[in-house]
Amino acid sequence: MGKFKNIVILTGAGISAESGLATFRAANGLWNNHKVEDVATIEAFQRNPAYVHEFYNDLKKEVLAAKPNAAHQAITRLQKEYPAEVSVITQNVDLLHEKAGNQNVYHIHGQINQAVCLNCGQILETSGDVDTETVCPHCGIGGMMKPNIVFFGENLLYMDKVDELLRRCDLFLSVGTSGVVFPAAAFVQTAKYYGAATYEFNLEATSNNFYFDQHIMGPAGTTLPAFVDEMIKDIKNAD
Ligand code: APR
Repeated sequence: MGKFKNIVILTGAGISAESGLATFRAANGLWNNHKVEDVATIEAFQRNPAYVHEFYNDLKKEVLAAKPNAAHQAITRLQKEYPAEVSVITQNVDLLHEKAGNQNVYHIHGQINQAVCLNCGQILETSGDVDTETVCPHCGIGGMMKPNIVFFGENLLYMDKVDELLRRCDLFLSVGTSGVVFPAAAFVQTAKYYGAATYEFNLEATSNNFYFDQHIMGPAGTTLPAFVDEMIKDIKNAD
């Protein structure tokens, strides 16, 4: 395995599955118990903000109680022991990357512990409930807080940074994502176009099959630590 300088790790709900958090499209996934059009679109929020707040308040309690697993911890080990810039682009709104000590984490779909004021744009960090009565601490207006989650149809966050990272990465790892939601599902194409080696870590082959040089099947809590250990061993042997 070569010596890489700029590593990008794209993660999805699958990396948090072994921490006990539901994914979206599995049989018992979030989108099997709630319709996307009822809780994850700006129209849903305009139609019934109380219901959308309730969904994310309930999800927040579960997410904030979860603990990172060996896959998250392997990324911290890679960032500490492998001489490269390692960035994490996550579709997840949980904080398990941060709890595991990962650095350079970009939440392109937002974060469950944040709300944004639609009146003044201020982002509020909050581990508690947010609802239609919540007053913005910055502008003092009530009833204008929205979960800082990127709804379908809204622009993703950090996209300029993502573009820069994908153009200069020489190793792209996709971990625990079904590769069906764009533009994140196309990140591997950009990375590959600019010359990166591309690996997919999943329980099964995904629709993005073609763009990956290698598919590492199995639970990320097992496969990613083994992959990272191998990378670190190679570097130590090369020295
Ligand atoms: N290890 C590795 N992969 C796993 C594991 C595991 N332990 N458990 C599940 N997976 C894989 C599944 O095989 C699936 O391919 O994780 C993927 C999860 O896919 P989704 O449920 O579609 O989640 P994700 O890809 O993150 O969804 C992307 O869709 O609805 C939006 O905003 C939401 O960020 C989300 C986006």
